[in-house]
Amino acid sequence: MSMIESVPTPNRRLRRGRRNATLRRMVRETQLTVDNLIAPLFIVEGQNIRKPISSMPGQFQLSLDQLDTEIAELVAAQIPAVLLFGIPLHKDTQGSSAWDANGPVPSAIRAIKQQAPHLVVIADVCMCEYTDHGHCGILTSGEPETITVDNDPTLELLARASVAYAAAGADVVAPSAMMDGQIAAIRYGLDQAGYHDTIILSYAAKFASAFYGPFREAAESTPQFGDRRSYQMDAANAREAIAETALDVAEGADWLMVKPAGAYLDIIRAVYEEFDLPLAAYQVSGEYAMIKAAAANGWIDEQRVALESLLAIRRAGASMIITYYAKVAAQWLKA
Ligand code: PBG
Repeated sequence: MSMIESVPTPNRRLRRGRRNATLRRMVRETQLTVDNLIAPLFIVEGQNIRKPISSMPGQFQLSLDQLDTEIAELVAAQIPAVLLFGIPLHKDTQGSSAWDANGPVPSAIRAIKQQAPHLVVIADVCMCEYTDHGHCGILTSGEPETITVDNDPTLELLARASVAYAAAGADVVAPSAMMDGQIAAIRYGLDQAGYHDTIILSYAAKFASAFYGPFREAAESTPQFGDRRSYQMDAANAREAIAETALDVAEGADWLMVKPAGAYLDIIRAVYEEFDLPLAAYQVSGEYAMIKAAAANGWIDEQRVALESLLAIRRAGASMIITYYAKVAAQWLKA
């Protein structure tokens, strides 16, 4: 076997900038800080409830009286915002608990604003936690296999819920029902009620994703029949995500969101390049659960994988990241 002699050596050596930690710190293009993190919370009715969500280790359903400790920890960690989901005792066909001024979310908003006035409170706006059938709005009638969410009658309900959250003191409402025209309907409702400064964070490109599995246990919002594919987006479609987002921008969305995040980094990047509005991404329940499960088996380093997944979402273009890792990630970043 003959030796290959005098192979050319590189004259461009990018490794020079990676030689030590200080150099790497200087050339780093993307920063992940606590300012990027938003913590989701699940609020249940009742007393003394801090119920672990089995598929999302470290996450809990909390009753109002258990909220203050959680909020204190998030504030101590310097998390700027929380995203609230409500789990009501009463569910019906319309999801009327969603706009009940004494429902779990308005009550939680008032309590949080009293305890931590500077913590930004975002209220998720959707009907699926509130309807007895688990779909994101009022259903159409007709043959069982043709039943879907009736778009236009649902708009008013989403607007009502948004106004209830704004009235309770929410800084931001985040509609996630994926109804056509929901941003215009909500903006109209908020403005009519005098809430001109309430921000709308639109789940502009929300995909019908199997990564939401654990959330449905957490929020008790599993559809009782069928699935959400007749209103949430098909995972195959990137250009349609631009069309969806463009509509929401035209209807008055202030901030945009792509969801899920990890498997949709291309969508985050495309929306970032196309629209000049603040951009959020949602690292959803299944993304969290997968990291947790692999880490519990000792197969990956949880902290490094979690922080890498969040940095990747930042690199793709999102400045706000909704993540179940928010509190611990903030603690890791501080350490
Ligand atoms: C409500 C809603 C869902 C999620 C956020 N808002 C569930 C769904 O659409 O089925 C999922 C969040 C997560 O998986 O962490 N429509």
